[in-house]
Amino acid sequence: MTDTSAPLVSLRGRRVILGVTGGIAAYKAVEVCRRLVDAGAHVAPVLTDDALRFVGALTFSALASEPARTSLFDGPDPIPHTRLGQSADLIVVAPATAKLLGKYAAGISDDLLTATLLATRAPVLVAPAMHTEMWEHPAVQENLTTLRRRGVHVVDPEAGRLAGGDEGEGRLADPARIVGAVAAALATGDLAGVRVLVTAGGTREPLDPVRFVGNRSSGKMGHAVADVAARRGAAVTLVTAADHPATDVVEVVRVETADEMADAVLGRFAEVDVVVMAAAVADFRPKATTAQKLKKHDGVPEVVLEPTPDILATLGERKQPHQVLVGFAAETEHVREHAATKLAAKRVDLMVANDVSAPDAGFEVDTNRAVLLYSSGSAEEIPLMPKPDLAGLILDRIVESLKGNQ
Ligand code: PMT
Repeated sequence: MTDTSAPLVSLRGRRVILGVTGGIAAYKAVEVCRRLVDAGAHVAPVLTDDALRFVGALTFSALASEPARTSLFDGPDPIPHTRLGQSADLIVVAPATAKLLGKYAAGISDDLLTATLLATRAPVLVAPAMHTEMWEHPAVQENLTTLRRRGVHVVDPEAGRLAGGDEGEGRLADPARIVGAVAAALATGDLAGVRVLVTAGGTREPLDPVRFVGNRSSGKMGHAVADVAARRGAAVTLVTAADHPATDVVEVVRVETADEMADAVLGRFAEVDVVVMAAAVADFRPKATTAQKLKKHDGVPEVVLEPTPDILATLGERKQPHQVLVGFAAETEHVREHAATKLAAKRVDLMVANDVSAPDAGFEVDTNRAVLLYSSGSAEEIPLMPKPDLAGLILDRIVESLKGNQ
């Protein structure tokens, strides 16, 4: 079975710079440091002045592989930032405050950590942590978009208890997740360097402010594809309509409707090598939605439906020869025949046909059974297995297809 908890790569011998900035979550960086060392990494901590208000350099010096550094000027090395930046296999900043993100996005280097971030060609991973209002502020989000565009990995914060007794999104990601993301960013798996976009979940098409037309997709299948691809080294963007957690992916785009999913997917298509459309996109939506809740005393409404955009068919039209396009077909009868028709109509390379009428396969359950249909006309029967294992198998076929495209 695919192990979905452990990092797929060992960090043994990898040189990781751990940047710590000044937020209440700085104490959790101690745990990140310990876990990185346990995973075999050589860890060099760099703390900002603000971080030192929350945690002591001595704690990191005691746990890490070399003494913590705190200044550009105080140590014996006259140019510590270039030495650190050039020798790093990866830099991880946890927690990354709004101030650090802003300075990094703007190219400001006024302390050892920001100077090191500019003096490296190594992959960089930031794990933001701040109050919800700050996290949601357009300035912070725009800085993150800039950093992501430059290839910086972002481990999104989680929702939960914040400083001062507040609750909300902005809490530093769990240290295990951060170390998992470090492992994924350093992965040398068979999908390393491949950009993969995965869709998941069922879209919701509003009828009024509280009602929608939806389906039973939990997002488990799509999230499994995204997680396993990330663990095999791919840079994964997950466009999801599900509430399911996402682990080591580079970017998570949360959407609700077919239109929002279409915008997110089509806008990114030119920049990716592989798309896996595991989402259950609504085929129809209410033609009209009301601004206010429909009232029972107004009588039973007549709902007129209209088609949604067919995202996969549009991708099939735009697909370039180097790209691999995978669709899922959810069928309740004549599974192969209906899926084969969709394969041809949507011009995909691989269609994963699942019989969603079976109680142990398809929507909501943890297992799935599929027939893989290829554009060449061949087919492969896949027995019942956990969704992460089916995801691994689909990714094996994608790797073969990418090799064939070279
Ligand atoms: O999320 P889970 O609970 O784990 O369930 C998994 C699943 C059953 C949702 C998944 O395995 C699956 O079958 N996903 C595809 C569901 C679906 O919409 O099938 P379809 O046969 O209607 O569509 C065929 C393909 O076209 C799909 O890749 C779909 O994403 C895509 N499509 C469909 C309609 C539309 N408007 N745009 C699309 O891109």
